[in-house]
Amino acid sequence: MCGIIGFTGTLDAKAVLTEGLAELEYRGYDSAGIAYVTKQGIKTIKTAGKVSCLKEKVESIKEQDQTTCGIGHTRWATHGGVSDINSHPHTAGRVTLIHNGIIENYQKLQAELEKKGKKPISQTDTEIAAMVIDDYYEGDPIKAIKNAVKCLQGAYAFLIMFQEFPGKIYCIRNGSPLVATYTEKGAIIASDMVALIKYSKDYFVLPEHHIATLTTDGIKITNLLDQPVEPKMLHVNWDMASARKGGYDYFMLKEIHEQPEALRRTITPRLKQGLPDFEEDNIGDDIFQGLNKIVITACGTAMHAGLIGRNLIEKLTRVPVTVEIASEFRYQDPIIDENTLVLVISQSGETADTLAALRLAKEKGAKTLSIVNVKGSSIARESDYVLYTHAGPEIAVASTKAYIVQLAALYLFAMRFAYVTNKITKEETKKMTEEFTCVISQVEKMISCDEQVEEIAACLVKTEDLFFIGRGLDYALSCEGSIKLKEVSYIHSEAYAAGELKHGTISLITDNVPVIAIATQKDVYVKTISNVKEVRSRGAKVILITRQDAVIDASLCDHIITIPKVDDIFAPFCAAVALQYIAYYAAVKRGLNVDQPRNLAKSVTVE
Ligand code: M6R
Repeated sequence: MCGIIGFTGTLDAKAVLTEGLAELEYRGYDSAGIAYVTKQGIKTIKTAGKVSCLKEKVESIKEQDQTTCGIGHTRWATHGGVSDINSHPHTAGRVTLIHNGIIENYQKLQAELEKKGKKPISQTDTEIAAMVIDDYYEGDPIKAIKNAVKCLQGAYAFLIMFQEFPGKIYCIRNGSPLVATYTEKGAIIASDMVALIKYSKDYFVLPEHHIATLTTDGIKITNLLDQPVEPKMLHVNWDMASARKGGYDYFMLKEIHEQPEALRRTITPRLKQGLPDFEEDNIGDDIFQGLNKIVITACGTAMHAGLIGRNLIEKLTRVPVTVEIASEFRYQDPIIDENTLVLVISQSGETADTLAALRLAKEKGAKTLSIVNVKGSSIARESDYVLYTHAGPEIAVASTKAYIVQLAALYLFAMRFAYVTNKITKEETKKMTEEFTCVISQVEKMISCDEQVEEIAACLVKTEDLFFIGRGLDYALSCEGSIKLKEVSYIHSEAYAAGELKHGTISLITDNVPVIAIATQKDVYVKTISNVKEVRSRGAKVILITRQDAVIDASLCDHIITIPKVDDIFAPFCAAVALQYIAYYAAVKRGLNVDQPRNLAKSVTVE
């Protein structure tokens, strides 16, 4: 959840760290801090608030000498409230560190330290970790780290500086991500590539339970037996511009606009002679052999992509699919075996619950395929097969372009599965992929409906409660529309299967309660419209998202958003854009920080 960065080299470390933290801020933005090496020892500056507050504080301190080594942290609070004292870095004796993750047994460790007369000054689990390392420290940093991690339970990525080793940063991780690179300007390590891209497109993921030692001369990696390890280099195909707002007011808006391109990058290379093809992804057709069940597991928006995926996979292949919330799946003792494919979806590839669900699936002998956006992430590395989406970095907390390419990957998967198992013919598959490709330009058209949606969203400024309704694919979309609206605009909303509303929830429909009805599917159109009439006659204000060619009685709704002509199964791609705009403009009109919503962080690396 937090963003961490470390640098040692020839550049001004304070600048490298504060700039890097600004890039990483989407990972957590409660407080921020840096620690850096000076001639007088390690100095720490930290504060509650955003990175901009930290920057002001840093700039107000005039240093005599330039500092070239330091660590920085932007926090999403877990243990201990948001305060200066709980901000990272934390120092214990000769150890100063930053941490992303949670030390689950910190209370037990604290009690043991207190018996030795050692008391923390903050309420954080992280300070306890620093104290444990210091407790073991007798002049050998690596030995102290190795001994300390034996006692620590939970997830962590640590960047550690020792008073007696200025210029060196020691790093270790379990669960939480760390990527690193070395250039002639020095060694740099961070939670993700957005902080490194300025320096290099080549990087490596620090393997778990390995220690990286960063010096101005390079990065040395050793395993816990002190054997040197060569990292596997990776390359990203996006650049700095992708990680910048580029003239847009918010990343969310920029990312909505990037969707056609993201779709193109995800779909086009996987179509060979009109057929979906995963050869370049090293996914052979044996993945489909003997499959009698698919379980899709993910969290939040990624799970909502799974709901759409289920619909399509079942429709095309007639193989049963269930969608499980990863945080539930992992504690459910799920019924899966070697004939089950567990399909894991994650933008970041680091979501703690999703990763745990994947590990459980593997333990139970299921085949695993992940749909992941971040190259080299834990979920990608640990899955049997990976289908990378190519959205590029998604910075806004609210997922938009990552969602649409997750849908694209699921559609390609469903089509290939149906084709190789002879559920659809070659000709049918080709026809379908042709229509699929056309969806990209229809999404482009949809992007230009922003002004209309902006006007509609303006009517939601004072709204406190709202309902989304739909059937089938439209219900799955409603779930996504609802989470999007809630997370960025703070308007409470619920997604309901349109036919289910009258089994209780319709009692909440009173005069002027807005209902966003999605009716893009011909087979259930009439049914959904009946449900719209039901809420309308109870006073609801209706915003209808429907097909361009639908014949609509004007008295049925207050506002209408139409989607371009596409085959029913592809309607979610266009309708999703309308839902994203509704959330975005409602939040903007309410004067909120769209990219950094209250209490949230981009990548949820804790349970
Ligand atoms: O990185 P992941 O796709 O695994 O993240 C899963 C959810 O945390 C994420 O989709 C979340 O729901 C979004 N912020 C919603 O917009």
